[in-house]
Amino acid sequence: MSLDDEKRLAAEAAAELVESGMTVGLGTGSTVAHLLPAVARRGLTDLRCVATSVATSEQARSLGIPVEEFNSLDRLDIAIDGTDEVTPDGWLIKGGGGAHLREKIVAAAADRFIVIGDSSKPVEKFTWPVPLELFAFGLASTLARLGDDVTVRPDTPPSPDGGVIADYRGPGLDDPATLAARLEADPGVAAQGLFPPSLVSEIFVARGKDVERTTIG
Ligand code: 5RP
Repeated sequence: MSLDDEKRLAAEAAAELVESGMTVGLGTGSTVAHLLPAVARRGLTDLRCVATSVATSEQARSLGIPVEEFNSLDRLDIAIDGTDEVTPDGWLIKGGGGAHLREKIVAAAADRFIVIGDSSKPVEKFTWPVPLELFAFGLASTLARLGDDVTVRPDTPPSPDGGVIADYRGPGLDDPATLAARLEADPGVAAQGLFPPSLVSEIFVARGKDVERTTIG
């Protein structure tokens, strides 16, 4: 079974958690691209959904899933999203698609945040760079403070909020809480891609034909 098949299986399992009348946060990426048709096939009614990217919003609407701006809902019943890596204690690195600012806001608003992925996503220790979204205002000064460990991601358009997508490749990944606090402390950093276990409810990882579900918080 391919990793893409595993993404689909994890996504289909998570789609079963969505019920009519729910408020739903929709993540971004190739795993979520499998979630949206699975939700659409359920034929649910009275869903109110918010999307973490233009791509997700467009795909959802094309499938008949209603998507609204995230400005009137003050909470969500559930949010479902992919991840780049997940450690055994439930820390995530997200933002490979540069959507981590909106993804974190949506995850934080959700009563349940469900993470879906294929069998390549669980890792003993992080290896990915940590995605950042930087404010465009004062960008050169922010980059000067952050130093050589941070580079602007090449050929990447600004985020829907006008932010500049960058990546941190430096020390500290073995202590994500400290690194997250350090990155967030810079006023030029709008968001960083380390998501703490306190945000995560459950992780669905497909391995072959099986979907392993791990409850985090
Ligand atoms: C986008 C993300 C994605 O959830 C993450 O990159 C995983 O993507 P995929 O499902 O394509 O493997 O954080 O910003």
